[in-house]
Amino acid sequence: MARNHNRLFRLLLGIGLASGALTLQAQAVDTAAAEQLLEASKCGKCHSVDKQKDGPAYKKTAAKYKGKADGEAKLVTHLTTAPIIEIDGVKEEHSKVKSKDDAAIKNLARYILSR
Ligand code: HEC
Repeated sequence: MARNHNRLFRLLLGIGLASGALTLQAQAVDTAAAEQLLEASKCGKCHSVDKQKDGPAYKKTAAKYKGKADGEAKLVTHLTTAPIIEIDGVKEEHSKVKSKDDAAIKNLARYILSR
């Protein structure tokens, strides 16, 4: 009886580890690729990871969307549709990320959310 339990436990543990690994893979962030895209898109003019510039720090944005299932989608929209923003009372279009690659843009969104 105890032995069967042990086997069941190991089976469940195996399933748990395997699905955990899959989840991690889905959430993995390619930091180098994200930072390269930030650089190429000149986002650093208005943003940094932890300092408020004209735009909010990525850490602040990460905190804002923490635990929200649609955080990644919201950021992808923000970065691809040039919403109107306001800097010192002047309205302008937010710059679009310099990429048409859906996976690269999602990776950047996850990078920001994981700061
Ligand atoms: C000219 C300055 C400027 C540039 C360049 C700029 N941003 Fe922004 N960004 C802002 C401002 C200002 C806001 C705040 C808008 C608001 O809260 O209405 C903002 C907001 C954001 C947000 C928060 C969105 C949200 O839903 O809370 C993210 C993330 C972001 N920018 C990322 C980027 C990335 C990535 C780039 C490069 C493709 C970029 N920004 C380029 C000024 C800029």
